[in-house]
Amino acid sequence: MLVLKNIGVTFDGGTSIGSTILNGINLRVCGGEFVIIIGGNGAGKTTLFNVISGLLRPTTGQVMLDGKDMAKIPAHERSQYVARVVQNTMAGTMCNLTIFENLAFAFTRGKRRKLLPYSTSARRKIFAEKLESLGIGLEKRMNATVASLSGGQRQAIGLLMSVLAPSKILLLDEITAALDPKISDSVMALANKIIVAEGRTTLMITHNMAHATAYGDRMLLLANSHFQREFSGPEKEALTPSELAKVFGEV
Ligand SMILES: Nc1ncnc2c1ncn2[C@@H]1O[C@H](COP(=O)(O)OP(=O)(O)O)[C@@H](O)[C@H]1O
Ligand SMILES: [Mg+2]
Repeated sequence: MLVLKNIGVTFDGGTSIGSTILNGINLRVCGGEFVIIIGGNGAGKTTLFNVISGLLRPTTGQVMLDGKDMAKIPAHERSQYVARVVQNTMAGTMCNLTIFENLAFAFTRGKRRKLLPYSTSARRKIFAEKLESLGIGLEKRMNATVASLSGGQRQAIGLLMSVLAPSKILLLDEITAALDPKISDSVMALANKIIVAEGRTTLMITHNMAHATAYGDRMLLLANSHFQREFSGPEKEALTPSELAKVFGEV
């Protein structure tokens, strides 16, 4: 379980008052839950992910992941706890390496290389199955460099990489924002398929109102430094993208 206790972030910016980005953020996310976070540009969504992943020490409060304080976990161990995918389709993958090499890198993440019991052919088989499950034919292109793929294909590989090694929580930050509408929908459907199949505890930031209403168990609206609204259960299910856009406009 992920527990955020009274998280606050103030960047001092050289002024005496500073600028408060987050204030009084409280959240409990159970294992396997899929939570959507929406909010305007500059609301502090990415800052919150930086806090959850331990990259940024909050000004106040604590992040507890399965009872462990993220601030006390050494940086080199954090990737075992948190996996993250971002908007930039170039960021999650290593362009000049092949699909196989990228997946092999992700697969070994957090494991001690010497202890790996997998031969190259065994790994090829595992990766081919995973790629096939994406349903976009990439299993036939394992030796192609990631640079030769389209943005949507790269993002699909980035997603797969993020879940190849175990982690306690998956953070998706506007993963479809750089893609055209059609590819954006298929990458989102793919992400959902992986999240549901693997039962990954996931937080996802999106600006896409259709994705925010169609996916996830719960949705939180970040505005004025805290979670201003929450939609869950039947209320979330009934919410349409245009109704959500209206709520968005009112905060
Ligand atoms: N390291 C930092 N130092 C100072 N200000 C920052 C820093 N990181 C983010 N900010 C500011 O915090 C605000 C929220 O940023 P961000 O979390 O990236 O917003 P969002 O992801 O919701 O669009 C922005 O005004 C941004 O400029
Ligand atoms: Mg952001």
